Amino acid sequence: MEEKGDDCSSRLAIMELANMLSVPMCLNAVVRLRVPDAIWQGGSNLPLTPSQILSRLSLPHPADSLNLQRILRMLSSYGVFRETISEDDAARTYSLTDVGKTLVTGDDGLSYGAYVLQHHQEELMRAWPLVHEAVLDPSAEPFVKANGEPAYSYYGKRPEMNGLMQAAMSATSVPFMRAMLEGYDGFSGAERVVDVGGSAGDCLRMILARYPTVREGLNFDLPEVVAKAPAIPGVTHVGGDMFNYVPSGDVIFMKWILTTWTEDECKLILENCYKALPPGGKLIACEPVLPKHTDDSHRTRALLEGDIFVMTIYRAQGRHRTEEEFRMLGAAAGFPKFKPFYVDHFYTVLEFQK
Ligand SMILES: C[S@@+](CC[C@H](N)C(=O)[O-])C[C@H]1O[C@@H](n2cnc3c(N)ncnc32)[C@H](O)[C@@H]1O
Repeated sequence: MEEKGDDCSSRLAIMELANMLSVPMCLNAVVRLRVPDAIWQGGSNLPLTPSQILSRLSLPHPADSLNLQRILRMLSSYGVFRETISEDDAARTYSLTDVGKTLVTGDDGLSYGAYVLQHHQEELMRAWPLVHEAVLDPSAEPFVKANGEPAYSYYGKRPEMNGLMQAAMSATSVPFMRAMLEGYDGFSGAERVVDVGGSAGDCLRMILARYPTVREGLNFDLPEVVAKAPAIPGVTHVGGDMFNYVPSGDVIFMKWILTTWTEDECKLILENCYKALPPGGKLIACEPVLPKHTDDSHRTRALLEGDIFVMTIYRAQGRHRTEEEFRMLGAAAGFPKFKPFYVDHFYTVLEFQK
């Protein structure tokens, strides 16, 4: 008699899941080796053999093309590269798919490669074998258990980690903001916009470019973060702690902030935003919002995986929330009106009006 779950496809599926760590680790490898830039070369994206790719990397010693091929072949199966086999079966060549192109460094110096590298730094990797501890004892995050202190203060003492965090945030924020500002006009009429947790200031730079009526942008983040932020015309970098206060503005913006924190911490941040707004002023928060139903789409998986990342690295009791949970958080901090706008697949724009 056939046992439940004892068929070949189930056993293959669990082997695939158990070995899946090789996917992000190989992404990390191709980004470190700069393979996407080597293939792209100004948009040519010609199919190349692993040896041809290596020859473009100006490496100091001979490298192993067969091992590179093993990596590229596996990532082709996940849609990062397109593999072609020559008619005589003698050679495999690789070009970038649309997914792979997100890892190419753009004219602005940005690439999702920074996000890949940021997630796979040694200190973050140390936390992952401790995910089960977030269930047994959520009072301290796996990152804290592995490294002895919370992630943001840890990054703050290490300029390289801080810099990589900023590059990762810029790389993911810029394409989102471009799409958001095309489809959403919530900043019209604003004169002073504060970005809470604004990192390098890219979001504000783009808001100011789109809305000349915004005369002043305040990029508010931890002192060690704004110390490294580049000068941006019209933007003042302000170092501080959003748990103490938020600078005043007629619109307060934040992106990818609330997700990281617990209910009580979110309430405190939202109360500080409420205090910093005039009557009728609004807080525009762009956050990952979980769908009600679980499915296997890229969007749902990216959101659910991000939720586990938050649990492991930032707050064992911080989390990705549903639209209703955000509405309730806003109401608890005093915001009577709440409206969500969907402009992107990963973040949702949430308007909280005073
Ligand atoms: C996930 S990042 C988002 C960055 C940026 N908003 C974006 O989406 O590109 C969270 C940001 O919150 C900042 N942050 C963390 N704790 C903070 C605090 N207590 N006060 C102000 N900013 C803080 C971090 O330095 C970081 O820049």
